[in-house]
Amino acid sequence: MLLHKAFFTKMARPLCLFIMVLFALKGYSQPGRTVADFDKGWRFNLGDVAGGEKLDVKDGTWRVLDLPHDWSIEGKFSKENPATPEGGALPGGIGWYRKTFTVPASAKNKLVYIDFDGVYQKSTVWINGHNLGFRPNGYISFRYDLTPYLNFGGTNTIAVKVDNSVQPNSRWYSGSGIYRNVWLTTTDKVAVDHWGTYVITPSVTDKAAEVKVVASILNATRAQQPVTITTTLLNAEGKAVATTTENTVLKDASTRFTQDLKINNPILWSVEKPYLYKVLTKISGKNSADSYTTPIGIRYFNFDADKGFSLNGKLMKILGVCDHHDLGSLGAAINTRALERQLQMLKAMGCNGIRTSHNPPAPELLDLCDKMGFIVMDEAFDCWEWQKVKYDYHLYFKEWHKRDLEDQVLRDRNHPSVMIWSIGNEIPQQGDTTALRIAPELAGIVHSLDKTRPITTANDNPGKGNKIIQSGAIDLIGYNYHEFDYATFHDRYPGKKFIATETTSGLEMRGHYDMPSDSIRVWPSRYDKPFTDGNPDNSVSAYDNVRPGWGSTHEATWKVMKKYDFLSGMFIWTGWDYLGEPTPYSWPSRSSYFGIIDLAGFPKDVYYMYQSEWTNKTVLHIFPHWNWTPGKMVDVWAFYNNADEVELFLNGKSLGTKKKLGEDLHIMWRVKYEPGTLKAVSRKNGKVVLIREIHTAGAPAKIELVADRKNIKADGKDLSFITVKILDKDGNVVPNADNLVNFKVSGPGFIAGVDNGDEVSHDPFKANYRKAFNGLALAIIQTKEKAGNITFTATAAGLKSATTVLQVK
Ligand code: GAL
Repeated sequence: MLLHKAFFTKMARPLCLFIMVLFALKGYSQPGRTVADFDKGWRFNLGDVAGGEKLDVKDGTWRVLDLPHDWSIEGKFSKENPATPEGGALPGGIGWYRKTFTVPASAKNKLVYIDFDGVYQKSTVWINGHNLGFRPNGYISFRYDLTPYLNFGGTNTIAVKVDNSVQPNSRWYSGSGIYRNVWLTTTDKVAVDHWGTYVITPSVTDKAAEVKVVASILNATRAQQPVTITTTLLNAEGKAVATTTENTVLKDASTRFTQDLKINNPILWSVEKPYLYKVLTKISGKNSADSYTTPIGIRYFNFDADKGFSLNGKLMKILGVCDHHDLGSLGAAINTRALERQLQMLKAMGCNGIRTSHNPPAPELLDLCDKMGFIVMDEAFDCWEWQKVKYDYHLYFKEWHKRDLEDQVLRDRNHPSVMIWSIGNEIPQQGDTTALRIAPELAGIVHSLDKTRPITTANDNPGKGNKIIQSGAIDLIGYNYHEFDYATFHDRYPGKKFIATETTSGLEMRGHYDMPSDSIRVWPSRYDKPFTDGNPDNSVSAYDNVRPGWGSTHEATWKVMKKYDFLSGMFIWTGWDYLGEPTPYSWPSRSSYFGIIDLAGFPKDVYYMYQSEWTNKTVLHIFPHWNWTPGKMVDVWAFYNNADEVELFLNGKSLGTKKKLGEDLHIMWRVKYEPGTLKAVSRKNGKVVLIREIHTAGAPAKIELVADRKNIKADGKDLSFITVKILDKDGNVVPNADNLVNFKVSGPGFIAGVDNGDEVSHDPFKANYRKAFNGLALAIIQTKEKAGNITFTATAAGLKSATTVLQVK
């Protein structure tokens, strides 16, 4: 039969989606548990719909999309958007999502749940017109039981209203919508409950480990159920290394069941070798065949008041960064590969810690931190009962804090990467007696569910008047900034343990340089001189010579951190630039300058300072670029390591050899600019270690494309990040190039986002073009669920174009 073209456009997509949904739900009729990806084939309407939950709503004209979805990132930047530039200057509003799916009659004896990893914010969910509940917190994961309201053997409709219309409600870009994954979970009527295991390791040495597994088991049969419960520890290769089995009778609707395992010679989880085991909990009986997996790591750690942090008995510092949850031009919509790329770049810098500022993260972040070896400070709140911005969580704190905090700890407490709970960032009530009530209450909630990790708060008031600290509820005293008060910490808090919960706040714009020698912007910390900001055109120098009034430069902070053993670790503000909070400016800037890496993923120079200090990788990084007005005096900086000295040459002539002295973290030459080649040579014992050259670039002549990965998966989610470089005829990046580049994609992929790292640009992130910024741009290609070759071409007026081919399998 020949089908008319209109059929394909109008009918085929929904039909395919329907078939896909059926396919995803095929697990219904099998015994045991299925967790189906429920992201596909939703209908979306931007704007409120009266009665949008009703079964007869005509949603056929609504947009069809796959989750995760962030509608704000698709919008236009405007100062008038109620989020304000602080919140990213993108639109909010109300959105409705609906999805219709069938549940087979054979699923009648199952329990069926919908699991949301996060919806920003104020979500209300209905199934078949029945209201399941409301969650105001935009970062919390939650589940609803659909079972009582389902049509088994018929169609069912989920409706979700998301209300992000009342703003400002955030000090950073939040995104809007069902921006994290959604799962449809089915289990038998006897099964491990939601977040139903708690695995701890009461004793760990190199020789042996005890693993205690507490399983919460649900019995929804209203009858006693004899079952066999088997707990098995599997190593990373999937081999059982310990197992225990018990028979029991489940008498109640919910039972907590504990089993203990022992293994010899455990492979310990560390940041260098993040070895993961799995605990497999099996329940078998007449009404159940559940298998529930809990990934775990076996490790022990300690915070010591004098010696600082140790992991598996080895002293080390937590070298961490704070990050917000957005993924640059992808917005808040979670994508595992985008997150993995962020972490890979941080790991390559030597970073080993992440603070989930200032909210519960996507579960994928913690999975990646487990796998990649990061130590996580898992944070709950940016405010308690007092507001920071008018419509933030303080409106919901009283009613919801217990539920939200419990859910966060229950969800995250098995992750080996999580080693610190933070119950608040710069809580405005620090100085108020109400903190004496709230801090112990929150600490009590956390400790009732997990006693294996210390609790902290990130305090911007580290003085004796801080009521959170006075309350005694905090295990680890956290300072935000105040690094020149670190030395006297124990005078203030004798015998207490310390963590630098937030540091630095250096400001840089990639590729923009104001000479430290010329400028007054060289005061490394607020303890030296008053704060000065960036330039009237909203550019900020990348020499680590600009900071806000409360912050310090990267170098000044790291110098202090290095000095004292008791400083267990630090979390730099921030690893990556993020949308919103464009300090030191406001509009027209719309994203932050704090990142060590810009929003597009291009490292700023200070990245290499950390790499030279935090890794063994041999580093020699010189900057700035070499395109100046002849005669200008230029500060040439070098970050290096694994060498005794560095010699600099300009057009073959030596400008002298320098070495870091004392606390130095870089070396500097003041050079009278002339065009040509700047060359740095690092040497150890007289032998050349590394050579770096920077050439004066000519006019833009061609485009170069560099894909971070050329082989990507046909799973509809995988990404390739393609760096677009504007080169002169000799292949040098043109440091101030801002050419408009157009992109074309053919094959099974599409452009998920474009960017260039410019904090001030108002161009859309969802587009097939981007101007270069300081010589670079980025295109993010996402696969479709189809194998083949993606051909990506970049063209620009007057430049030789470039093409790259990605293989999708
Ligand atoms: C801190 C705050 C962060 C961020 C940062 C910017 O005080 O905790 O959320 O605003 O300042 O420097």
